[in-house]
Amino acid sequence: MTNLKPIALILCTLFIATNANLIEETCMQTPNHGLCVQYLQADPHSSDSDVTGLALIMVNVIKTKANNALVKIHQLLQGSPEPGQKEALNSCGDRYNAILVADVPQAIASLQKGDPKFAVDGANDAAIEANSCENSFSGKSPLTNDNNSMHGVAAVTAAIVKLLL
Ligand SMILES: *[C@@H]1O[C@H](CO)[C@@H](O)[C@H](O)[C@H]1NC(C)=O
Repeated sequence: MTNLKPIALILCTLFIATNANLIEETCMQTPNHGLCVQYLQADPHSSDSDVTGLALIMVNVIKTKANNALVKIHQLLQGSPEPGQKEALNSCGDRYNAILVADVPQAIASLQKGDPKFAVDGANDAAIEANSCENSFSGKSPLTNDNNSMHGVAAVTAAIVKLLL
């Protein structure tokens, strides 16, 4: 029995190495290789995921980004913003909330059903929502970083999902 241990270890190492290649190969086909590898490696599930699993990890990153943006929006609203700013922040709240209640669940359901085309739509829409938030400010937006970051993650997600189509 003890003789099996080294074999198990070798198989395990091979498996991890194989998946490092899968992440590498997958991210190479996205518009932002560095961002893609960074987010996928940060999730421990990526070491034993297939491409669908990698896409699900990225959808989860979209979810986290939307949640972070919402926390920031609530904090800004609590800081008694000017009326115009307040209106824009409320609109952004709706936008980022739509990502959480519509785009993310749609993308997850679509990937889990093995019918990924709606996941592409979900990812693309997340970027559109973030963009609309930006546009609701007449001047400088306090959420520009969130927009840029959502765009980056959504583009990588859509590219990974397209590999499944
Ligand atoms: C949101 O971010 C994207 C990507 O960085 C950028 O192309 C777009 O112009 C931004 N939208 C606004 C309104 O700033």
